Amino acid sequence: MLKPFFIALVLMLFISPSSLYSDSGNGRSHGDRNKLLKGCASCHKGHGVYKTPMLSERKEIFCFRCHGHNIYSENAKKAGDIAKDVGTANIQSEFEKPYHHPIEKIGIHRYGEILPEADPSMPRHSACGDCHHHHYAGEKNKMSGVRGTSKDGAKIRITYEYELCFSCHSYSANLPAYQTNKAEMFNSSNPSFHPVIAPGKNTDVPSLVPPLTTSSLIKCTDCHNNDDPAGPNGPHGSNFRYLLSKNYTTTDGSEGPFQYELCYNCHRRSSILSNESFPLHDLHISTVGASCRTCHNPHGSNQYSHLIEFNRASVMSSNSGQLHYTVYGSRTGQCALNCHGKDHDPALYPGAVQTPSSSRPSRFPSRK
Ligand code: HEC
Ligand code: HEC
Ligand code: HEC
Ligand code: HEC
Ligand code: HEC
Ligand code: HEC
Ligand code: HEC
Repeated sequence: MLKPFFIALVLMLFISPSSLYSDSGNGRSHGDRNKLLKGCASCHKGHGVYKTPMLSERKEIFCFRCHGHNIYSENAKKAGDIAKDVGTANIQSEFEKPYHHPIEKIGIHRYGEILPEADPSMPRHSACGDCHHHHYAGEKNKMSGVRGTSKDGAKIRITYEYELCFSCHSYSANLPAYQTNKAEMFNSSNPSFHPVIAPGKNTDVPSLVPPLTTSSLIKCTDCHNNDDPAGPNGPHGSNFRYLLSKNYTTTDGSEGPFQYELCYNCHRRSSILSNESFPLHDLHISTVGASCRTCHNPHGSNQYSHLIEFNRASVMSSNSGQLHYTVYGSRTGQCALNCHGKDHDPALYPGAVQTPSSSRPSRFPSRK
């Protein structure tokens, strides 16, 4: 089985190197002869490591020959595999950060494997080759040639970045218990969601930082990315938990620009703290010290409007056993819950409106 494959590879490498990707140099970074001076032979050697298609290293560390620490890319330059003036990004250092995609789980990735996994006992992994194709990755489309998963779970050619992420973070049978199905969280039929698949539902989001508007779309990598904006782009690694591009504190504590930096990147801090939408934002965030996460889910909510999903670590049912959020119109709603002993059974905002129910809601405490 291996024999005809090798004959074909040798033929392609040495007889008609351009037959594999005829538009080499046209948008496919690895087909650029000005950068990869030896073409196919910059990667495929006459003799290779056992069980690889004539590669000089085993697949898991192979990419670091050119995308690793300086010492490796300098060696590749000395060997004449890449041009002296090409600056390949150091991706290796991203994977040495405390939070990173687990490329160290080796020997699991198979070229052409079916993701998302249908078998819950399959070990999870992510290799360079799960997100980038060794031949087709391009400067414009770095995911070119990789198969993705649509919002409905179908195997497809990738058009939108989230379709890459959905291969492992949506319908996978082996999803870790603490994770949610992201195709469900961002589903546009939910009461609310961050606008990754479709523009958001709310037309009244006064805090948005221009040029963002309520018709903007955002990407997973707007939040999950390198924490160093000067470093290589991509969800490879970060010094912040959950692979976030900016800091975000999910537990309660004092407010500051750094605490919720991720959100303040797109939502003006001054708008949130001056209660432009929710009249009790400042009271909860600054005075009581509630994290955004105590009330909002960063992805979406299949229960409530305004990304409301209470963090059950601190939010319990009210004394009368109720736990819900109800919207009555723009900047008007009510909650029933108990948070650190403070009972809302229910509590109404902005205050002077009638509740449809006959029960008389208690008000939130005033600031003093
Ligand atoms: C940037 C490095 C690189 C360059 C340049 C490159 N390849 Fe590859 N090639 C790889 C890697 C990595 C694999 C193995 C992928 C796997 O199995 O996961 C591979 C696999 C292959 C295979 C096995 C089938 C497949 O697609 O996996 C063939 C055939 C092949 N390469 C031919 C070529 C030819 C012909 C050229 C030049 C036109 C070329 N390669 C250029 C890295 C490269
Ligand atoms: C022989 C050197 C070499 C090897 C090995 C190599 N690459 Fe590359 N790669 C390059 C060069 C050169 C570029 C173009 C960089 C540029 O123009 O800044 C590139 C570009 C890329 C890009 C697109 C980025 C862009 O802006 O053009 C991706 C993604 C990528 N490589 C991933 C990989 C992966 C994954 C592997 C391992 C399967 C790999 N590379 C192995 C040399 C290499
Ligand atoms: C080939 C599978 C695969 C793909 C594709 C993939 N991931 Fe992951 N991702 C993983 C694995 C495996 C982990 C480790 C934790 C786990 O098992 O989910 C992980 C972890 C993460 C984490 C950290 C979770 C935590 O608990 O800290 C985030 C955030 C993440 N991925 C986002 C993304 C985004 C955004 C994309 C698309 C750009 C993406 N992933 C594409 C497999 C993948
Ligand atoms: C607006 C910012 C934002 C966007 C956009 C975003 N995330 Fe997240 N993500 C977060 C934050 C913040 C957390 C931390 C956990 C929490 O607060 O619940 C997180 C946690 C995660 C986790 C680990 C915990 C969990 O809930 O599963 C995964 C996996 C993940 N995100 C994947 C994705 C994928 C895939 C996309 C795109 C389809 C995406 N995220 C889009 C902000 C975002
Ligand atoms: C979980 C998916 C995932 C994994 C695993 C992954 N990448 Fe990426 N990578 C991305 C995404 C997404 C981008 C950004 C794409 C964009 O800019 O649209 C990216 C960007 C890049 C770039 C371009 C960086 C820049 O700023 O120009 C290179 C080079 C690269 N990746 C190489 C690698 C290598 C080498 C590995 C393995 C060591 C790897 N990637 C693993 C998803 C991944
Ligand atoms: C990359 C930009 C970006 C980041 C980062 C971001 N948001 Fe948003 N957010 C948006 C956009 C765009 C909208 C408008 C969607 C709409 O019109 O419904 C929005 C809307 C919202 C809404 C209103 C949704 C509704 O249906 O009423 C809430 C609540 C929200 N974001 C909270 C957060 C929180 C909390 C964080 C930090 C974890 C955060 N956002 C981070 C871009 C972002
Ligand atoms: C006590 C619960 C609570 C906390 C804590 C909270 N919010 Fe909200 N937030 C709400 C409610 C309720 C609304 C809906 C207001 C309405 O009816 O329009 C809202 C609306 C929003 C909106 C959409 C409208 C706008 O202002 O643009 C954004 C964005 C937002 N919150 C961001 C944040 C951020 C960022 C944090 C943390 C710094 C945070 N919220 C903390 C309850 C909360």
